[in-house]
Amino acid sequence: MILSIESSCDDSSIAVTRIQNKKLVFHQKISQDNEHTPYGGVVPEIASRLHAVALPKILYACRDFLPHLKAVAVTSTPGLGITLLEGVAMAQALALALKIPLIAVHHLKGHIYSLFIEQDSCFPLDVLLVSGGHTLILQAISHEEVRIVAQSLDDSFGESFDKVAKMLGLGYPGGPIVESYAQKGDVARFAFTVPLAHYPKVAFSFSGLKNGVRLAIESLKTATKESLSEVDRADICASFQKTAVAHLLQQTERFLRDSSCKDFAIVGGASANLCLRQAIAQLLEKTQRKLKVAPLEFCSDNAAMIGRVAIESYLKGEFTPPQAIKVLARTLAVF
Ligand code: KG4
Ligand code: ZN
Repeated sequence: MILSIESSCDDSSIAVTRIQNKKLVFHQKISQDNEHTPYGGVVPEIASRLHAVALPKILYACRDFLPHLKAVAVTSTPGLGITLLEGVAMAQALALALKIPLIAVHHLKGHIYSLFIEQDSCFPLDVLLVSGGHTLILQAISHEEVRIVAQSLDDSFGESFDKVAKMLGLGYPGGPIVESYAQKGDVARFAFTVPLAHYPKVAFSFSGLKNGVRLAIESLKTATKESLSEVDRADICASFQKTAVAHLLQQTERFLRDSSCKDFAIVGGASANLCLRQAIAQLLEKTQRKLKVAPLEFCSDNAAMIGRVAIESYLKGEFTPPQAIKVLARTLAVF
């Protein structure tokens, strides 16, 4: 079995996966949403301290598996430096104490493998990755080769939901809250501009849209964000979500013109968004492509997806000496 640890942002999670049949035998996650809600976003120092409390608790819950481990895996990049360190320190200690190899896992590759939990992997695959930290189009050619085709010039898709929620006084994380408000709102009330409609390359941008939302809120002339009406909030969420999804759809459509791959996946925390799933599914139907998504419980950050990547690495003998593991907060290109 492989024990895997995830602490790249605000979810502390540990999983234990059987190598031979890829079955998850243990998986637990402690999220920190309540602690970050007052700030409208993740506070790295608080997140790091909470991991230091939560990870040992989860490790204790799965202590019976420790004698059966063949390797320990951990997210080493990308993420928040001081939260990644919490998981990495635990993984280093376990590898040294149990005399088992250490596997460093790229968090974004983890999101791709969230599609293959308890299953065989299937490549090649085109991927739209939408999370709190990234908005990317990837070509996953094989376990070893993942190409970045397009990325955001500024904010990410998930982050824009978090920021809109903060501007409307709706709490954190913004994604699920904005989505549920959007379901009650009028998509036509605010005319936000779809970003990068005439940009020469496939790319993403959400900062202009975020600014559009700020101006829309100001135009309502309420004294504070708390005094906005529920109807105003719902209409802003609906109009914003429609535009953000239209942007992803437009860029994906442009990318697909040059791709012959028949499988397309949406992964990452924001892939839980129903409006996005439906829009992409309709687009793919037109070109006879298949949509792949992970079960909802594995869309947001979790250690099960890290363990699933680690099985492939273990079978290929890709290990990192515990003293040489590098924690890289902001790297994209080393899949
Ligand atoms: O993948 P993830 O758990 O963490 C990162 O690796 O960043 O993604 C979290 C992000 C947050 O920004 C959250 O607001 C967003 O995913 N998210 C959503 C939805 N559920 C989560 N965004 C839009 N719609 C959702 N339903
Ligand atoms: Zn993530």
